[in-house]
Amino acid sequence: MSATEKVNILMVDDHPDKLLTYEVILSELGENLIKANSGREALEQLLKNDIAVVLLDVSMPIQDGFELANTIRQHPRFEKIAIIFISAVHVSDMDRLAGFEQGAVDYISVPVVPRLLRARVRVFVELYRKTRELERLNGELRRISSHLIRMQDEEHRRIARELHDGLGQELAVLKMTVTQIPQYNSIGAKDRAANEANEIVTRAIQQVRSMSHLLHPPLLDEIGLLSAVRWYLDGLTKRSGIVTSLDVQPADFPRLTPDLETAIFRAIQEALTNVFRHSGARKTWVTLSQQENQVVVTVGDDGKGVGPEIAEMRAGSLGVGLAGMRQRAKEFGGKLRLTNTNPGTLVEIAIPAQCLVRQEAHATTCAQSD
Ligand SMILES: Nc1ncnc2c1ncn2[C@@H]1O[C@H](COP(=O)(O)OP(=O)(O)OP(=O)(O)O)[C@@H](O)[C@H]1O
Ligand SMILES: [Mg+2]
Repeated sequence: MSATEKVNILMVDDHPDKLLTYEVILSELGENLIKANSGREALEQLLKNDIAVVLLDVSMPIQDGFELANTIRQHPRFEKIAIIFISAVHVSDMDRLAGFEQGAVDYISVPVVPRLLRARVRVFVELYRKTRELERLNGELRRISSHLIRMQDEEHRRIARELHDGLGQELAVLKMTVTQIPQYNSIGAKDRAANEANEIVTRAIQQVRSMSHLLHPPLLDEIGLLSAVRWYLDGLTKRSGIVTSLDVQPADFPRLTPDLETAIFRAIQEALTNVFRHSGARKTWVTLSQQENQVVVTVGDDGKGVGPEIAEMRAGSLGVGLAGMRQRAKEFGGKLRLTNTNPGTLVEIAIPAQCLVRQEAHATTCAQSD
């Protein structure tokens, strides 16, 4: 649920004129108002709609408000629903207590003061919205963390395979080659074996280097983000044949904090992996620009583009890649945007200049809501 989505408020009263009055009073809230003339109608509405707040008349003829609240509360789906009682007659403290015991969260007496009623309903509507948002974020977090664990496991398997099939094989051949050397009679054969061993060691060193670089690019700490991105783009072109380019504004792009450089590098790495895995693009281009009030990073491609649900980052449509990228951007007070450029996709991350260090230090200025 987004902050702008309307929520449902159910108003229950056996007098149509009172329902009309509540409707007029609450219309200012801009939410969906649903009317019910009896307990039965109210239950029907509750089952059909997702209701945030129930405004309940205490004295109704067939089933009074207390009984109805009791029935509502017994249903597991409505255990926590906010019920506000409205009553002209039962207004003693004992009556209020009875109301609270039946599950009321608030109690309003007649004559109703419009501003007061609106303010009270608004509190519960906001509470409902915040609860839904929290539930959504929790769900997303659970999904991301289980995906992350799976990915970590896959990554460990990949490293194990690389070590076994790549480095392990080279070292096995090296051992065989070196073991044979004392048995050769001629100097020439010994030299050839030593040369061969030398080549194997060179390849093994290369493998260790590329594996450790992929795990954490050393260039990032030493010569900075630009060199690391250039190095990664070169590797991508070699591995995939995709033509890459990097555009940096200004040419003397400043060093950022290590945290932010890592976050930007990882985002570019993920966006490029997506280009390789999903886009079918022949070209991809990365831009890094420092503007007056923000740093903007873009990764574009000329591939098949993304569908609207991904461009709008709808819940459930993102993998860990884009969700992680959005989270990283958020930690720095920034925003992630995805556009279908038809053809192709443009991934854009903008970090406000005042947030160029991690958010903890700037909790108030850089905090982001969805
Ligand atoms: N450049 C792109 N071109 C076309 N589709 C893309 C591109 N980038 C992302 N997508 C689409 O967006 C989806 C979500 O991307 P995301 O990176 O979040 O997850 P993923 O790549 O599927 O999996 P992972 O969690 O391993 O990253 C992809 O499955 C793909 O359909
Ligand atoms: Mg991905």
